[in-house]
Amino acid sequence: MHLIGLREMSRQRMVDLLDSAEEYLDGSGEVVTPPSHAGKLEGTTLGMLFLEPSTRTRVSFEMAAQRLGAEAVLVTAGGTTVEIGESAADICRTLAAMGMDGFIVRHHDRQLPHVLVDRLEVPIINAGNGSGEHPTQGLVDALTLRRHFGLDEDLSGLKVAIMGDVVHSRVARSDAHALNLLGAEVLLAGPPKLLPSDDRRRNWPGRETTSRKEALQWADAVVVLRIHDERIHGSIVDPHEYAMDWGIDTSIVERYMKPEAVIMHPGPVIRGVELSDPVVDGDRCLVLKQATNSVAVRQAILAAYFGG
Ligand code: CP
Repeated sequence: MHLIGLREMSRQRMVDLLDSAEEYLDGSGEVVTPPSHAGKLEGTTLGMLFLEPSTRTRVSFEMAAQRLGAEAVLVTAGGTTVEIGESAADICRTLAAMGMDGFIVRHHDRQLPHVLVDRLEVPIINAGNGSGEHPTQGLVDALTLRRHFGLDEDLSGLKVAIMGDVVHSRVARSDAHALNLLGAEVLLAGPPKLLPSDDRRRNWPGRETTSRKEALQWADAVVVLRIHDERIHGSIVDPHEYAMDWGIDTSIVERYMKPEAVIMHPGPVIRGVELSDPVVDGDRCLVLKQATNSVAVRQAILAAYFGG
């Protein structure tokens, strides 16, 4: 009923959602809505509570809802009673009383999705809870890898490095769990202060490296992350130093990466820090493919959680 994290999801459920997302992509990879799915969510009203900034997740959920015939009502921090201190839980309870059929929620508080599950009777979809999880992005990344490498079901045999500010990243957590469950080998790569510390390490699948070279030489795909300044208290990373030590430009690509290896990024990309302009805009970078696939994945998710 709820989608809070991928850590709790079964492999079969994940594969089913990826298969279902494929139904919303045509032979050339464009998003489509088959006639049998159009209007599937007619009469459904979704509360989109986005109390942290978002471009990709918010817009793709809005497009997905519209394509399935649902109405999406957006609530952001500005101009609402969030500004004067009303809690997200109370706002959702109020909107549920007005007739919302479920909520898609982005918030800095890791606990909020769990609180909403306890206090509401309608489905809750986590669109990012602080440094917790971003399950729908994890499914987008799994689908993007599956399609790019022409894999039928899971990601068995694929080597995926998740690189950068791993410890503050909700995408890293969801990707690591999803890709590991789907059979990929996962390598967490970054400077020591941005990798999970020993006590938190047991919650992460995969092994770790603090060598950019090792990660890039090993991987078939690299999921690159930005530095999550908004979740780091005190400046622990200098962007210029980071770009030198961990950034990927064309010379690094040519020197270290396998000829067929690809680069992914959940966005937003901070150009010139984790990736150079030519790398972001180059053929190996799947960022725009991830954006396209995100609409299909979110259509599949809305259909699965609200389609009866
Ligand atoms: N990938 C992702 O969550 O992007 P947004 O922050 O733009 O939604």
